[in-house]
Amino acid sequence: MAKQSSHYDVAIIGAGAAGLFCAGKAAAFGKSTILIDHRKRVAEKIRISGGGRCNFTNIHSGPDNFLSQNAHFAKSALAGYSPYDFIDLVERYRIRFHEKKLGQLFCDDSAQNIIDMLIEECRKSHVTFQFETAISAIAKDVSDFTITTDKGVVVAKKLVIATGGLSIPKIGATGFGYDVAKQFNLPVIKPRAGLVPLTFTDNLKALCADLAGLSVEAAISFQKISFEEGLLFTHRGLSGPSILQISSYWEDGKEIAINMMPNHDVTALLMQEKQASPKQDIETILAKMLPKRLATGLCDIAALHGKMADMSDKKIRAMAELVQNWQVNPNGSEGYRTAEVTLGGIDTNCLSSKDMSVKTVPGLYFIGEVVDVTGHLGGHNFQWAWASAHAAAKSL
Ligand code: FDA
Repeated sequence: MAKQSSHYDVAIIGAGAAGLFCAGKAAAFGKSTILIDHRKRVAEKIRISGGGRCNFTNIHSGPDNFLSQNAHFAKSALAGYSPYDFIDLVERYRIRFHEKKLGQLFCDDSAQNIIDMLIEECRKSHVTFQFETAISAIAKDVSDFTITTDKGVVVAKKLVIATGGLSIPKIGATGFGYDVAKQFNLPVIKPRAGLVPLTFTDNLKALCADLAGLSVEAAISFQKISFEEGLLFTHRGLSGPSILQISSYWEDGKEIAINMMPNHDVTALLMQEKQASPKQDIETILAKMLPKRLATGLCDIAALHGKMADMSDKKIRAMAELVQNWQVNPNGSEGYRTAEVTLGGIDTNCLSSKDMSVKTVPGLYFIGEVVDVTGHLGGHNFQWAWASAHAAAKSL
C-alpha cells in the first residue's frame, strides 16, 4: 500500500541552527512548514558549541569575517539580519549572556537555552517536526518537490536544504546537501575541514607531545593572513584559537609562521640580556620570556645551549627568528572528526545572494554551512546560519 503523503508550503531538511531558525520564521510568515532531520536529537552542534555555552553571535560580525570563493556573496544576507537582531530575540527569551572577548557573545548558563528558544519559535508558529526520518529520494515537477522518506511522502512547494557540512560525523553530519546539489547539477566547491587543529610528522610532533597542555598568546600567519590569539600544544599537534583560525586558510604542503612574542623585539631583548647577564644560559634567559618548558624545547630545536656570553650575534638572531618567525610545516589536520566547520560547499554562483534560492531550480534553497560561506571562529558561523536562514525565510 502506498504511504500517505502530506502537503506543505515549505519543507526544510536539516534541523540544525539554520534549519530551525528558518522553519520558525517561515511558519511565522504564514507558510505551512515541515522540518525534517534524520536524527532524533537535533541541533547537536548548538548543544556542544562554545564549550556548552554557545557563542551564538559576534557583535562585530561582518563580511570580512567570512571565507568564500565570492567574498561579496554573504553581504546581503548579513546586512538583512544583524547580530543585534538575534540579540533582540535572545533578550526576549530572557536568556542571560555575556561578551567573552572580541565581541563573542556566549550564554551565561547553557547552549540548551538557544536550542529551547529556537524550538519554541517553531512550536509557536506550528512547524511540523519530523525527526528520526531517513530521506531516500527527492523529485521535482513543475510546481512541487516530492520527498520520499521512511515515514511517508512529503510534498512541498519550496524546499530548503539546511543539512550543514561534514564536520563531526558522529553527531549526524552527512554530505546530503552536496548530493542534492549534484542531483540538480549545481556546482560544489570542494569541501575541506576548517577551524581544525593542525598535525605534524616532523620533529615538531615530539615537541608538541612534550609540551601538551601548554598555551601561549601567539600570532600565526599564513601568507598575508595573520591571527593573534591563543596557541595550544597538544599530543597530536597545534591547536588553540589562532591555529583554528589559520587552518581555514592554510594550504596543504605549505608552511605557517608562528610568532610567540608578537609584541616584542626578541633580538633586541636577547642582545640586552647578553650584556646584562652574560653568565646565564640562553635557556634561562628565554624562560623569562616564555614558559620554561617551551624555552627548553626551543633551545633543543635550535640546538642552542650555553651561556649568553658565548652566543654570537648570529646565534642570537637565529634564536629570535625561531621565537618570532618559526616556520612549521603541518602534514595535515585532525580532519572532520574535530573540525568546527566545513569550508567550501554549494557554489554561491548558483544562488541568489538576496534569498539563497537556486537560480536554475525554482523553489530550491540552500542555507547555513552547506553553502560556500564559512566564518571565522568567534560566533560568525552561527551569525551566518541565522542571517542566511532569515534571507531565505522572507522569500519562501
Ligand atoms: P548544522 O550542522 O547545525 O545542522 C545540520 C542538520 O542537518 C543537523 O541537525 C543534521 O542532523 C541534519 N542532517 C545532516 N544530514 C542529514 C540527512 N542526510 N538527512 C536529514 N538531516 C540531516 N559556531 C559559532 O558560531 N559559535 C560557536 O560557538 C561554535 N562552536 C562550535 C563547536 C563545535 C564543536 C562545532 C562542531 C561547531 C561549532 N560552530 C560554532 C559551528 C556551528 O555549529 C555551525 O557552523 C552551525 O551549526 C551550522 O549550522 P547549520 O544549520 O548550517 O548546520
